[in-house]
Amino acid sequence: MASGNESGAAAGGPPDAAAARAKALREQLNHHAWRYYTLDDPAIPDAEYDRLFQELQALEAAHPDLQTPDSPTQRVGGRLLEGFASVRHTVPMLSIRTETDTQASGATAFDARVRRELGLGEADPPVEYVAEPKFDGLAMSLRYEDGVLVQAATRGDGEVGEEVTQNVRTIGQIPLRISSPHALPLHGSLPPVPPLLEVRGEVYMRRDDFDALNARQREKGDKSFVNPRNAAAGAVRQLDPAIAAQRPLSFFAYGLGAITPPEQGGPQFDSHLELLQTLKSWGFPVAASVERVFGAAELAAYHARIGALRDSLPYDIDGVVYKVDSLSLQRRLGFVTREPRWAVAHKYPAQEQLTTVLAIDIQVGRTGKLTPVAKLAPVFVGGVTVTNATLHNLFEVRNKDVRVGDRVIVRRAGDVIPEVVGRVPSTTDSARAMLSSPGHAPRQPYVPNFRMPRRCPICASAVVREKGEANHRCTGGLFCSAQRKQAILHFAQRRAVEIEGLGDKLVDQLVDGGIVRTLPDLYRLGLVALTGLARMAEKSGQNILQALEKSKQTTLPRFLFGLGIRHVGEATAKELARHFGTLDAVMAASVEQLCEVSDIGPVVAQSVHTFFQQPHNREVVEQLRACGLTWPEGEPAARAPQPLAGQTVVLTGTLPTLSRDEAKDLLEAAGAKVAGSVSKKTHYVVAGTEAGSKLEKALALGIPVLDEAGMLELLKGAVP
Ligand code: IVH
Repeated sequence: MASGNESGAAAGGPPDAAAARAKALREQLNHHAWRYYTLDDPAIPDAEYDRLFQELQALEAAHPDLQTPDSPTQRVGGRLLEGFASVRHTVPMLSIRTETDTQASGATAFDARVRRELGLGEADPPVEYVAEPKFDGLAMSLRYEDGVLVQAATRGDGEVGEEVTQNVRTIGQIPLRISSPHALPLHGSLPPVPPLLEVRGEVYMRRDDFDALNARQREKGDKSFVNPRNAAAGAVRQLDPAIAAQRPLSFFAYGLGAITPPEQGGPQFDSHLELLQTLKSWGFPVAASVERVFGAAELAAYHARIGALRDSLPYDIDGVVYKVDSLSLQRRLGFVTREPRWAVAHKYPAQEQLTTVLAIDIQVGRTGKLTPVAKLAPVFVGGVTVTNATLHNLFEVRNKDVRVGDRVIVRRAGDVIPEVVGRVPSTTDSARAMLSSPGHAPRQPYVPNFRMPRRCPICASAVVREKGEANHRCTGGLFCSAQRKQAILHFAQRRAVEIEGLGDKLVDQLVDGGIVRTLPDLYRLGLVALTGLARMAEKSGQNILQALEKSKQTTLPRFLFGLGIRHVGEATAKELARHFGTLDAVMAASVEQLCEVSDIGPVVAQSVHTFFQQPHNREVVEQLRACGLTWPEGEPAARAPQPLAGQTVVLTGTLPTLSRDEAKDLLEAAGAKVAGSVSKKTHYVVAGTEAGSKLEKALALGIPVLDEAGMLELLKGAVP
C-alpha cells in the first residue's frame, strides 16, 4: 500500500515508520530546544515547535514503547516523588578554596602559590589560566550514557548527593541527548561523544526569571523567594515535577566528572579551555565571559572587569574562579584535602548580609506615601555601611513576616536602595510555629509587632489607604512638613527648576525653622535669614540667593514637572506644555480636554484637573509668577515627528558635545525610551568616552553601538 503522506503514514502506520518518525521528531525538537534555550537564537517559530511537540506526544501516546529518556516530552510532568534517592558520585564533587581578599592581591597570592608549587622562577613565563564567573546557584552532576542523560545529582556532601533527574530534565538548556549536529561554525573536527560522560556545572535562576517568579508568587499570595539561588535550590529539590517545571532554571557547564578514558576510546583533552569548548560544541551552555588569561596581572584585570559587569549580568555571581589551564599541570599540582591546588574562587564583596532589625520607622514621601523603613544594626554590604532598608509597604512587611528583633538578610546590589529580602529562621520560630500549630491551646493569632499608624507621625493628619492600593498615605498634603520638604526638594531638583545648592539638610533647616512654608517663600529668602542658619557662611548664603535668581528663568515643562502634581512626570509635563502652549491654558483645561493630550489617560487628566482646582495650588502658582518665575510661552504645538517611537536606547560614557540630559531630551523628543541598563530589548547603545559595562554588554549581545554623531544621524532618521 502506497502512501504519499509521510506524517499520516507515521501516525497510523506500521511501528517502524512510527519509530522512525518519533526519532526524527526527537532529533528536531532537541535541536530546536538547543537553539532556543542555549543559543538564544530560535530557528523556527514557537508555534511550529509546539506542533512538532504535539505530534511526538501523540505518537508516544499511541505507541508507549516509543517513549525514550531523551524525548523532549519527558521535560514536563513526571510522577510525584516521595523523596530523593541517594547517588554516590563516581568522582567526588570537590569544592574550591576561596580567596576572601577581594582586592587584586587575591589574584596575585594565588598565582604566587601556583608558581611556587610548580617550582617556577622569576624568569619563567606567566602561567596560563582560564578565568570564569563563579555562578551563584547549585552544583550539579549530569551523567550521560551513550549520549543520553540518565541521571542528574546534586553535590550533597561531595561524596553522596541526591538524584534529581526528573526536575533537571525540565531545564531547557540541558541536552537530553548529546548529538553531533551541534557543531559550532568554528569547530572543524568534533571529538565523538564518549560512552560515559559526566558534565558538571551550575544550575541557577536568571534574575529576570526570578523577578517574574516572585511576582507570580505574590499575586497568588504565596511566599516570595529570598534570592535566585534559594529559588533555584528549591526548584531542584521540588518533589512535584509539575511545580519544578514552572520554576525556570538555567545551566552553565564548567567541568567534568567521570568520563570514558582515552584508552577506551574517550576524548583526550590537553587543556581546560579545550574541554569547555568541546562541551559547548556538544550543546552545553558555557558562559561567554570565560577567558584564557596569562599571569597574575591578567587574573586581577579579569576580576576587576567582571566585577564592573556584575550588576548588569543577567544572573548572580559571587566571584570569579581561576583554573590552571593545562591539565597536565593540574595533575602535577594535585589536591590538598578536598580542594584542588590548581583552582581558586576569588570573591567580590557580598551583596547580602545578615543583621538585626532594631526598629521599623515610617518615612513620609512627597506624595504622602508612608514607607516602612527597617532600622538595622549597621552592616557592611555591597560596598557601603547600611543602617536603613526599605520595606516598601505594609503588605511587604507582612509577606516577609519581618518583625523588630528579627535576624534578616539585607541586600544591596549595584546602586539600588538597600532592601530587606527576608528573615532567617531563629529560635523564636519554633515558638511562633507552636502558637499557630493545631493542638496547642490556647492558639494565638499571628501578632506582628509593627502596625501602620492611623495618624501621620509627622503632622498627625489621618492616614488612609485607597481600595486596591498597597500604599498608605498621609492626608495632610502641604500641611505635613515631611511632604512640604519633599515637595521643595522636588521643585528644586536639577530636572525641574534647578536651584543649585538647595539640598535636604538646608531644606530641613528652612522648614523646621518655620522660615519656608511654601514654594514662594523660597524666593522671599534674604541673606539675613539664610546666614542666620547654623553652618551657613555669608558666601554660601549668597550662592543660594544667586541660584534662586537663576532658577527664575525656566521652561514650562520644568515648572509643571516641579509642581509635583501626582502622575505628572517629566514626559507628561512636556506633553502638557506642548499641547496647551501656556500655563493658563493647562490650568483652565477640563478633564476631557486634558484627555486629548497624547499619552494622557483619565487618571492623569483627573489628577491635573484636581490639582489646579485647589485654591491653594492656584495661589502658589500665582505667587511664584509674582516672585518673577518666567518661561517662554507659545502656541499649542503640533506633535513633532517621532522617528524613534517604540525604540529603547541606552546612554553610556561621556559624549563629546552633548550632556547626558541633553542627549536624553533629544532621544525622548524623537519618541525613544531611554533606559538605564542594556538588555536584549535594547535597540541602540550610544557610547561616549569611558563607557563601561553597558558597552561591553551591548557588544556581547550584538546590539548596535553608536557614537554621538551616529545618534544625531539616527535622530534625523538616517540610520536604518
Ligand atoms: S569548579 C574542582 N567553576 O563553586 C573544582 N565551580 O566550591 C570544582 N561554582 O559549589 C568547581 N561557578 O558549584 C567551578 N565556574 C565555576 C563555578 C563553580 C560556581 C561553584 C560550585 C561549587 C563551588 C566550588
